[in-house]
Amino acid sequence: MLNWQQVFDGEIMEKRLHILSGSHSIDLVQKVAKRLKSPLHPLKMERFANGEIKYQLEESVRGGNVFVFQTHSQPVNDAIVEQAIIIDAAKRASAKNITAVCPYLGYSRQDRKAYGREPITARLVIDILAMAGADRIVAVNLHSGQTQGFFNGPFDHLTALPVLAKYLKKKFNGGAVVVSPDSGRVKLADRYAKQIGADLAIVHKRRAETNKAEALDVIGEVAGRDCIIVDDMIDTGGTICAAADLLKRRGARSVSAAASHGLFSPPAQQSLAASAIDSIVVSDTVPLSIKLSKPKIEVVSVAALLAAAIKAIHEESSVSAIFDGSNQI
Ligand code: R5P
Repeated sequence: MLNWQQVFDGEIMEKRLHILSGSHSIDLVQKVAKRLKSPLHPLKMERFANGEIKYQLEESVRGGNVFVFQTHSQPVNDAIVEQAIIIDAAKRASAKNITAVCPYLGYSRQDRKAYGREPITARLVIDILAMAGADRIVAVNLHSGQTQGFFNGPFDHLTALPVLAKYLKKKFNGGAVVVSPDSGRVKLADRYAKQIGADLAIVHKRRAETNKAEALDVIGEVAGRDCIIVDDMIDTGGTICAAADLLKRRGARSVSAAASHGLFSPPAQQSLAASAIDSIVVSDTVPLSIKLSKPKIEVVSVAALLAAAIKAIHEESSVSAIFDGSNQI
């Protein structure tokens, strides 16, 4: 059976695969298109004077399999609306099948009502994509796997874990401790620990208010060890900075961080520069928006994973088979 790395050895492309992209994922989508040997479908984007977006597909997609890429990076609301508009254009242009490809699915953190009178925005965003005409969704590392259930159709949930774990395994070569920065990431941290042959520790995090994280305690042996904090995303950096400070106070030899999505919203640049973190690795689901000399930020690509998934969807073969089941989290 082929795995996702071998899948490109043979001849692949068919004619009716159309890769369309919004303006937020250009670097990543170009890498994916190159792997698939399929040029990006030409789109014309304009804006009305009041800021409204206007798109036109410059070639036919009639009867084709259309993949509409957009990562929901900042400005997030524009990213989502832009993707919905392209999907709508493809639907009205008689595409046979439309897949919304969201390397980072925006608003995915609010996937339940944690308190009274709150919205469930993960569901809302998925409803917008579905209403626009998406028949299928592909996303990388959702905040929680259950979010797939908000879409009444096929949902391929990929994970950047194999590419990040490969990088970490090479860098640490055994002896490290993978640290979950909160109770929500324990399963993820356990999978990293197994893949890179490391021990596991867990930080007890409390969020007194939105965007303010406190690390209260750590369970596991961290003194004298190289600790790797793993998370689905780094947004302001508050979670990993708080965990890193605590780990250093508990005697960690070094503290690194790994995350699928490097959002790095303000004040991430300042917080990370002032933190106890030695190095960071993220995937390219979101374009890197900050520059730091310390901690150094490495970026590994999920282009091969996304290209392999798109090829499997287009050819109607199994997505799980090429990822050997590791595409689920
Ligand atoms: C929280 O549940 C998430 O998994 C991340 O830990 C969080 O969103 C990261 O945000 P920040 O970097 O702002 O702490």
